[in-house]
Amino acid sequence: MRKISVATGRPYEIFIQRGIIDSCGKIIQSVSSKSQKVMIISDSNVFPLYAERIKKSLSDVGFTVYSHIFPAGEQSKNLHTIYEMYQSLVENSFTRKDLIVALGGGVTGDMAGFVSATYLRGINFVQIPTSLLAQVDSSVGGKTGVDLPQGKNLIGAFWQPVAVLIDPDTLQTLTPHFFADGMGEIIKYGCIKSRSLFDTLEKENAENIIEEIIEECVTIKRDVVQRDETEKGERALLNFGHTLGHAIEKEHNFTDISHGQAVAIGMVMMAKAGENNGITRKGTAERIACLCQKYHLPISDTTPIDNIVRSSFNDKKSTGSAVSLIVLDEIGKSRIYPVEKSEMLDFITKRVKIYE
Ligand SMILES: NC(=O)c1ccc[n+]([C@@H]2O[C@H](COP(=O)([O-])OP(=O)(O)OC[C@H]3O[C@@H](n4cnc5c(N)ncnc54)[C@H](O)[C@@H]3O)[C@@H](O)[C@H]2O)c1
Ligand SMILES: [Zn+2]
Repeated sequence: MRKISVATGRPYEIFIQRGIIDSCGKIIQSVSSKSQKVMIISDSNVFPLYAERIKKSLSDVGFTVYSHIFPAGEQSKNLHTIYEMYQSLVENSFTRKDLIVALGGGVTGDMAGFVSATYLRGINFVQIPTSLLAQVDSSVGGKTGVDLPQGKNLIGAFWQPVAVLIDPDTLQTLTPHFFADGMGEIIKYGCIKSRSLFDTLEKENAENIIEEIIEECVTIKRDVVQRDETEKGERALLNFGHTLGHAIEKEHNFTDISHGQAVAIGMVMMAKAGENNGITRKGTAERIACLCQKYHLPISDTTPIDNIVRSSFNDKKSTGSAVSLIVLDEIGKSRIYPVEKSEMLDFITKRVKIYE
């Protein structure tokens, strides 16, 4: 078993092991010994695949297990779904000593986490992420949240889980589309912090060594989050490719392009802009583009660049007249680069040849 300790305000451990869901009961008991009841929150795709095995493992160590299932998909990530989760907890008399298990992708983890942060002013929760994106990114770091009609993740809280249990075997049932989506974030970690990870992704087939890759990504995120839990500085590096990526998602009304795809395009555009502004080593954008294509991610979009840039101004991470872009010096080295909104279009488009 691979174990990674996270020293945030409330410390916890991340366990990575194939088949860990069958022995989750013992681990969960050790991190939440006062709990009697467990509520498994999961979506309509993941619950039928894995919940029975988790229920068995939890009941075997003495927990009384309840479940709450919501319809799978980002469109369920709203306050109505959250309200129904609160209802399930109240109806079953959950107290502050009890526990929530988030079983699923990032949508499940973000919402179950937000409910844990706010129900009775906070109860313990365990993350069992089952999508690649959730295993390498969203289950670690304590950001929880829910969408509003006006935008994604506009409501939220920082709330750390008491443990994260990652079972790479669950990825076997993930569709190739969502596997590729997670690869977008993995490539991002290589770009911002680890040249060796990037080299490995180029040389090997990530699927064959996914356990090592998950461990490396989680370790990178852990290190960043430990140094900057509430995103006052360094944590922003994790947004590489995201300022433009979010804007691209928005321009597509969050329908025909997914997060990982949009981030892939955003990373290539930022790397190219970095090169053209003399910041990023030449050839970097080409390498990122090739790697994204290798893992079935797009590298260009037909949305006019002016629209993408304008959309990015509304990003919740932009402050006042400036936008904090994340740029690469080279693969594995990144920094925060504030640009005035009035200069951003020029920065992005400067002699940029968008990939066809
Ligand atoms: N909290 C954070 O730090 C953070 C970071 C990145 C993204 N996010 C959030 O994560 C969400 C995206 O996460 P996601 O891509 O995991 O979305 P998701 O939870 O909707 O999962 C994607 C799809 O895969 C299915 N699925 C998940 N695991 C499966 C499995 N093992 N087998 C078969 N199907 C499976 C789900 O039912 C869903 O249809 C977004 O809402 C985003 O805002 C949060
Ligand atoms: Zn992302």
